[in-house]
Amino acid sequence: MNNKLLFIANWKSNKNTAETLLWFEEFEKLRSKVNLDNKEIIIAPSYLSIPASYTYIQEHKLPINLAVQDISMFDTGAYTGEVAASQALEYAKFAIIGHSERRKNQHESDDDIALKTAMAKDKGLKTIVCVQNEETPIPQEGTDIVAYEPVFAIGTGNPDTPENITSVFTYIHEKNPDLTLLYGGSVAPDTITNFKNIPLLSGFLIGSASLEAESFIQLLLQC
Ligand code: PGA
Repeated sequence: MNNKLLFIANWKSNKNTAETLLWFEEFEKLRSKVNLDNKEIIIAPSYLSIPASYTYIQEHKLPINLAVQDISMFDTGAYTGEVAASQALEYAKFAIIGHSERRKNQHESDDDIALKTAMAKDKGLKTIVCVQNEETPIPQEGTDIVAYEPVFAIGTGNPDTPENITSVFTYIHEKNPDLTLLYGGSVAPDTITNFKNIPLLSGFLIGSASLEAESFIQLLLQC
């Protein structure tokens, strides 16, 4: 990809559209504090807030790209409730695939995730595949970015150790030398400096600490 550190904010089922736009307004007020030249910011709001986010980002020329939090394994057609990759591509450049919350709550299998990844990539989205540990299969077709997110670290305030992250990254990198590697799980303003020097690390997938623009800016300020 490039040498910029990636900051991917996963907002999950938080924020309606008005709240989403307020975040962008707040970000706009604070952005001059941060050197953004070496950083790439990607926000994954709820599907319903994506078009309004896209318009706001374009009109205000914010240095932000959008991601979807999930994507259909199917092409366009008779798939009620699904959003196809080619539809998402109207607004988003990235797709988060296989988050552990979807594996648990929607019972997504490794095979589902492989289909979604191949489809998303084929339609032109950059794919961010979430893995829980070094045993989680990484789709060989279509994966661009891997986010290592151990379940015990998600939303708990209990991140993994830099040593363990390094060993998981090393293992993944040996088998998949071309993939961009991210860490996610309780990345917060008071923990981010522990991770930023991990070899092979290209950025972060951030949940809770990205929900307030002020806290997100704090993360950026420390990298
Ligand atoms: P967290 O969530 O930062 O709140 O731990 C990370 C994620 O689920 O992507």
